[in-house]
Formats: sequence, C-alpha cells, structure tokens
Amino acid sequence: MGENDVIVETRNLVKIYGDGAQVRALNGVNMRVVRGEFISVMGPSGSGKSTLLNMIGALDRPTSGQVLVNGQDLGEVRDLDGFRARTVGFVFQLHNLIPTLTARENVEVPMVGQPVGRAERRRRAEELLALVGLADRMDHLPAQLSGGERQRVAIARALANRPSLVLADEPTGDLDSRSGAEIIQLMRRLNRELGTTFILVTHDPAVARQTERVLVMKDGRIVREHHVGTPFEEDLKAFRDSGLGQAILAGDDVARDLLTPEEYEVLLRLLRRIAQ
Ligand SMILES: Nc1ncnc2c1ncn2[C@@H]1O[C@H](COP(=O)(O)OP(=O)(O)OP(=O)(O)O)[C@@H](O)[C@H]1O
Ligand SMILES: [Mg+2]
Repeated sequence: MGENDVIVETRNLVKIYGDGAQVRALNGVNMRVVRGEFISVMGPSGSGKSTLLNMIGALDRPTSGQVLVNGQDLGEVRDLDGFRARTVGFVFQLHNLIPTLTARENVEVPMVGQPVGRAERRRRAEELLALVGLADRMDHLPAQLSGGERQRVAIARALANRPSLVLADEPTGDLDSRSGAEIIQLMRRLNRELGTTFILVTHDPAVARQTERVLVMKDGRIVREHHVGTPFEEDLKAFRDSGLGQAILAGDDVARDLLTPEEYEVLLRLLRRIAQ
C-alpha cells in the first residue's frame, strides 16, 4: 500500500466538547482509509461516529491529533471551505435539501462559487440526477419526491463537485428497509463506477454488511475492525468443517443433544447460509 493509496488518515485524534462538564467524544482514533474503499463505521449511540465524520470532513476541528486527507494535514489548510467544496461530499440522515428549489437546482447549489459556468452547472446537475435514476424528476420540489428519491437527490448533490470522498452519516436512517437498501446499492455502484471513496456511518448491520470493511467504535475509540466477506465467512467455514458443524448439517442426534433447540436452529441457519 503506497502513501498515495491512502485517502484518509487520522493520527491519535482527540475531540473534547465543552468547558465545564467535558465530553471526550474521540479518545485517540487512528485509522486509514484506502482510496476507492467503501467502508462503514458502526457503534452505539454516543460512541463518536458523527464526531469522527465531522473531523474528517473538516466541519469541526479536533482538540488534538491530526486528520490527513489526500496527504494534506487539515490543521494546515487555510481555506477549509474551499477544501470541503472541492474534496468532500456530505450526505446526512435528513437530506437537508432546500425546500423551495427543484431537484436540479438543489444539485447545482454546491457548484455555485466554484469555477463552473451556469450552463455547465445545469448540464452536470442533469447528468448526476440521471446517474441516480431521477432523470424524470429534475423539476420536482423536495416535497414532491419520496424519501428515497430525496436521498438520491442528496447523493447527486454530494457528487456535484466530483469529490474524491463522500461522508454519509446515517444516510438510510430515515428510510424504510427497501429504500435504504436501494440507496446503499446506488452508493456502491457510484463507488465502483466513479472510484469515489465512501465512509458510511450506520446503526444497521444489514447496511454494514454491504460495505467492504466495518470499523466498530466504542467510547471514542475504534475497538474492532471487520473485513466483510472474509474473516466472518472464514470462521463459519472452519466451523462448518468441524465435527460439530458436520453433525449439525447432517441432522445428527449428537448435535441436538449438545445444544439447546435455539442454538441448534441458529447454527443450522448460519451453516446453511454459507453452504449456498
Ligand atoms: N456539540 C457537542 N457538544 C457537546 N457534546 C457533544 C457535541 N456533539 C456530540 N457530543 C457528545 O459527544 C459524544 C459523541 O457524540 P456523537 O454525535 O459523535 O455520537 P454518535 O456515535 O454519532 O451517536 P449517534 O449514534 O447517537 O448518532 C456524545 O457523548 C455526545 O453527547
Ligand atoms: Mg451520530
């Protein structure tokens, strides 16, 4: 892994909120994200997920430690607004679209103030809306769109300035599970087609499972990391090939005697899942 392959790195990142009753929201976070990755951050409420995303996106400054994006130390960047506009796209749980602007106009907003002419702005917004499957909804106001469609507009908006990095905080939190799954699939497709790096914060294990790597936070630290589709599956395969695994799959009485009915059912279901 060359240094150029790392798009985000944090070094001993600490964030303390408040003066009196202080909250140590981040307590020494060290992480690296490789360019083009599609990763998620999970963890209990209050564990520091949003705070971490806000530091990476330069929405707020750390108390100590460093954030490097594209090799650049954010503590040394003078024009943070410019950095955000050029490099990072944000997607939030509540899409934050401007209610009086159409879908197309909402996607154009981040390009205002950038060196992009009016006609080019419009062309890019239309292209992005087509990319997220909303070619026939360009002139709709947010109130005239479904929740999933609004979130797709928010994704198109996040991509407006062709960022190398998209940060999404609970992007499916406000959607039903089907629309949520569609949004994740859309992000995954954009990740593959455009090479954009995605970091998603989520509570939902079904969402995390669709990402390549899951960072698990607790009390302001990253306490675990899962490579989805490798170690968990590997563990299950090893178990499947063990004596007990084989006995369960064979419906052997020994396995039933050793386990409670609940345990037996759960293990059988897991083993069948990887057998497919
Ligand atoms: N602006 C703030 N001022 C003071 N404390 C804050 C502020 N923002 C967050 N905190 C505290 O920092 C800790 C981490 O908050 P954060 O929002 O990062 O958690 P989270 O993991 O995103 O939680 P959730 O899953 O509920 O969104 C919490 O204890 C929270 O109360
Ligand atoms: Mg949060």
